[in-house]
Amino acid sequence: MAEPRATRTNLQGAAEAWAECPEVMDFLVPTSPVHRLKLLERDVYLSRWATRVPPGARVLDAGGGIGRFATWCLDRGCTVELVDPDPRSLAAARRHGAAHGPRLRTHEAPAEALPDIEPVDVIIACELLCYVDEPARVLEHFRRLLRPGGVLLASVEAPYGWAMSVDAPAGFVDALFGDGVLAVPGDRYVRTYDAAAFRELLTDWTIDDLWYTHYVLSGPFEGVTGEVELPRLLELEARFRAHPVLAELGRAVAVIAR
Ligand SMILES: C[S@@+](CC[C@H](N)C(=O)[O-])C[C@H]1O[C@@H](n2cnc3c(N)ncnc32)[C@H](O)[C@@H]1O
Repeated sequence: MAEPRATRTNLQGAAEAWAECPEVMDFLVPTSPVHRLKLLERDVYLSRWATRVPPGARVLDAGGGIGRFATWCLDRGCTVELVDPDPRSLAAARRHGAAHGPRLRTHEAPAEALPDIEPVDVIIACELLCYVDEPARVLEHFRRLLRPGGVLLASVEAPYGWAMSVDAPAGFVDALFGDGVLAVPGDRYVRTYDAAAFRELLTDWTIDDLWYTHYVLSGPFEGVTGEVELPRLLELEARFRAHPVLAELGRAVAVIAR
């Protein structure tokens, strides 16, 4: 049987999700049922990433989806090149970024074949490298595109926290004890990384910070923490991260690398 391909599989899954629940996919619309959740999730990342995005910077938002981070960067005066192979996500990103005119440029492409763009100061790859066919190749492209002194802000799904989340996919259990890869034909393909594996993937990079994150929102402890605002959320995140047993149960691993 042919090896499942991450990008193609995920694009099939995305097309179905756009057809079945567009209000969930386009969560930057304030009436979306997951609008608040998705922005809070973004703000948890930004609690560490934001200071690494200089106002007015040139940013590549790789696998940028509907523009969750791109819109934040645009509000900060940045110019954003948003690359994603999903045309529906790109159309939504253009709607959400329309007020910023030419400072948002969208490119329909996979990160393995980035368009020919000028070098950038910042690359954001939030929840991308776990969904691509060739993450090492994507990182090589990133290296070439990043200006000297530039920074990579990235995250991937982490195996334990992901498996314990409310929306964990059935069938991941064998992967949990094996290679950490979940492949559901025609639906999704995810390669999870624990902190050590993510470090290994980034072996050619200087890591300023790498941490487990998202224990609460969409993570394994969502049920026991209830609805929380950002300050309380960040406090809880820090407590989980400092705990001797719970620390590795974040849903994602995030990094700041150069
Ligand atoms: C979990 S979403 C994250 C979106 C966005 N980064 C965010 O945090 O809101 C993953 C995104 O990666 C995109 N994607 C999947 N395969 C890709 C590839 N090979 N290259 C670039 N983007 C890809 C998907 O279309 C989707 O928009």
